[in-house]
Amino acid sequence: MSDFSSLGLADWLIKQCKQLGINKPTPVQENCMPPILEGRDCLGCAKTGSGKTAAFVLPVLQKLSQDPYGIFCLVLTPTRELAYQIAEQFRVIGKPLGLRDCIVVGGMDMVTQSLELSRQPHVVVATPGRLADHIRSSNTFSLKRIQFLIMDEADRLLEQGCTDFTKDLEVILGALPAKRQTLLFSATLTDTLQELQSLTMNKPFFWESKSETRTVEELDQRYILAPEKIKDAYLVHLIQNFTDQHSDWSIIIFCKTCKDCQILTMMLRKFNFPTISLHSMMKQKVRFANLSKFKASVYKILIATDVASRGLDIPTVQVVINHNTPGLPKIYIHRVGRTARAGRNGVSITMVTQYDIHLVHAIEEQTQSKLKEYEVEEKDVLKILTQVNVTRRECEIRLEATDFDEKKEVHKRKQLILEGKDPEMEAKRKAELEKIKKHKKKFKERVQESVLQQQAEQRQRSLLKKKRRLEQKKAKLEAK
Ligand SMILES: Nc1ncnc2c1ncn2[C@@H]1O[C@H](COP(=O)(O)OP(=O)(O)OP(=O)(O)O)[C@@H](O)[C@H]1O
Ligand SMILES: [Mg+2]
Repeated sequence: MSDFSSLGLADWLIKQCKQLGINKPTPVQENCMPPILEGRDCLGCAKTGSGKTAAFVLPVLQKLSQDPYGIFCLVLTPTRELAYQIAEQFRVIGKPLGLRDCIVVGGMDMVTQSLELSRQPHVVVATPGRLADHIRSSNTFSLKRIQFLIMDEADRLLEQGCTDFTKDLEVILGALPAKRQTLLFSATLTDTLQELQSLTMNKPFFWESKSETRTVEELDQRYILAPEKIKDAYLVHLIQNFTDQHSDWSIIIFCKTCKDCQILTMMLRKFNFPTISLHSMMKQKVRFANLSKFKASVYKILIATDVASRGLDIPTVQVVINHNTPGLPKIYIHRVGRTARAGRNGVSITMVTQYDIHLVHAIEEQTQSKLKEYEVEEKDVLKILTQVNVTRRECEIRLEATDFDEKKEVHKRKQLILEGKDPEMEAKRKAELEKIKKHKKKFKERVQESVLQQQAEQRQRSLLKKKRRLEQKKAKLEAK
């Protein structure tokens, strides 16, 4: 393995890395940094926790130090917390340059951001929605001279998930110069490779870590088969065991919805576990504060939606628990990648109900690794089952009293208005879509029914034929 200086990295950057305990390049750094320094576009696909951030931060800082101006580099990322983390890496490593960065994310004061953007920071780290808003509404800054466009978690930025960035990306790309270096990174790039390549100008350098599995070897991947009704009892039992055995462990629990997050947080607090949550229904300032408290180990358990599944680098996390089986293998890869980072060990435990077994098979197929069963003393779980379920019900009632669902509706409407959509029209559109879906489902069921009926009739006909033939044979034999 080569060292940083043989990759062409300047001494001052090597010194900065050493201070951070980064002594030898990881494979993604070793392979992607030289082409980036040569001026090529780059697509880097490497496992979670393998140092992709430094693979783009270091070459950008080196180029910036040779010709410092603002705005030199734009980094786009899907979540606000990740934007802060990336900006921090730039700030720490770029300290000797007196690096000025600006973070442009939703949920924070737009006027302050506008002012900072107009002061020509060297690096802007942004989530697409808020940056596009600034571009639409202000002419006090320009992105026309940027030399680097970086998309971290690039596949998420391009896919049309629950947050669709495509319209905002169009606005942003329209404000960038055609001549630039584009760097795209993720642990799961391959299925969006074609769209990603279209973002790059010259033939990009593509690097993918060669490995049999898509999750890291240091990760112990487990599952627990638990029916929905006893999942929470398993969860409480698991956490009790971990906290009894390891005083310095932090745990992230991923759930499907904001409401699940809220209820589980309330429930685990009732059992005196130091728990805090992170989801999109919270005010941004609370989100940042909660994450900081978790990072500082003030709270050992973080309950989060997929807003925390990508990119976050928290070395103390030893366990990831999937309270629901992720519907997509990709989401699984990112969630469990919050532990076992940078060569450390970690455990992931996925709760699987009887309806999720096909999802586990899909995960195993994509990751090319097998999930092993996590052994639990069932009688210990059953002992606490009633207490856990009663506590959960109490929490649900308490949450209902706070109008959580109503707040969620208001929150959704606000989001739609911010996206420039009419909430009434959207509701109508959704209802129409539901109707179409229902019709389709009914139609499919009817088709299936008639196919089954036809098959049954055919079977009956052929049975009758056989029976007749047998009778004819019998009659012939008797006649003989
Ligand atoms: N060469 C290195 N040697 C040791 N540690 C490193 C090195 N490069 C980066 N790290 C550390 O590894 C950790 C993970 O890095 P990083 O967050 O960049 O991973 P990633 O590949 O972006 O993961 P993800 O896909 O989850 O976003 C960080 O704490 C970082 O400081
Ligand atoms: Mg990353």
